[in-house]
Amino acid sequence: MRITGNSLTRRRFGAIMAAGLLATGLGACANSDTGSGGGGNDDGKIVLGFSQVGAESGWRTANTTSIKEAATEAGIELKFDDAQQKQENQIKAIRNFIQQKVDVIAFSPVVESGWDTVLKEAKDANIPVILTDRAVDSADKTLYKTFLGSDFVKEGRLSGEWLLEETKSATGPVNIVELQGTTGSAPANDRKKGFAEAIAANPNLKIIASQSGDFTRAGGKAVMEQFLKANPKIDVLFAHNDDMGLGALEAITAAGKVPGKDIKIITIDAVKDGMQALADGKFNFIAECSPLLGPQLMDLVKKVKAGEQVPERIETQETTFTQQSAKEALPNRKY
Ligand code: AHR
Repeated sequence: MRITGNSLTRRRFGAIMAAGLLATGLGACANSDTGSGGGGNDDGKIVLGFSQVGAESGWRTANTTSIKEAATEAGIELKFDDAQQKQENQIKAIRNFIQQKVDVIAFSPVVESGWDTVLKEAKDANIPVILTDRAVDSADKTLYKTFLGSDFVKEGRLSGEWLLEETKSATGPVNIVELQGTTGSAPANDRKKGFAEAIAANPNLKIIASQSGDFTRAGGKAVMEQFLKANPKIDVLFAHNDDMGLGALEAITAAGKVPGKDIKIITIDAVKDGMQALADGKFNFIAECSPLLGPQLMDLVKKVKAGEQVPERIETQETTFTQQSAKEALPNRKY
């Protein structure tokens, strides 16, 4: 067939329009980083819709990388959405995934409550849901297939037990300030609970101030500045993650105090920057929370898609670090 200049122009115009429409369609799902469109991929690949909390911490960045790399490795098409720490964005993303008829939905819920309606919609559409990292408080456990993640209560308890041991010879009050994670999130609720339960064994240990720093460095710094202004004697900081602890370091130093000595610092996560602060003597203890959930998640995605039974709870294996063990572990740290 002979192609004239006019028909070529028309074809090019058609191609540009099609590309434009495709781009607009993708743009309609804000913050989405989707692969090839539609659910039930044509080349037989499993399609996974994943709604991430955001990019609030080093932990979260490492978790996102783990999930993206593992999906590629497993040959799973990933539709990734960043909710920017807003529940309404996660609900919108999950509804988009349902509309697109993805094979499986996974998400890390920003807060624990308020998921029943959208989870019911996924169930009615016959799309299995996997919770990763954080749990929901839904009474109906049939709304999701499994929950893969850490035991946050245990992380808080291990942090509190370290402090109990560290302060066992203290004769007077030990003043603790607490930087909580995102209000209403499972790790904030559970770490607070585990820590409080552990330190209750010694009445000298007192939490004199506790406020959310939203799991961010900026939040940790701002709240620690307030704590320091309002409380002349702070002995210990318990931060629900490394990033808030790292932000607080700046506030403590600016206030003329020596982190790790004047104020002992306990955090959770064990990302590289946190581990470096621990190895440098600025932090005193870290309870690990592993973000490397990608490979296990992809394995679960394949199983639920195949209709196989999976355990309703899969707990991540973790450890704790002191200043000495952080120095030893740092060279081989993956995140
Ligand atoms: O849910 C895991 C927590 O979320 C991590 O401890 C924290 O760093 C992140 O933002």
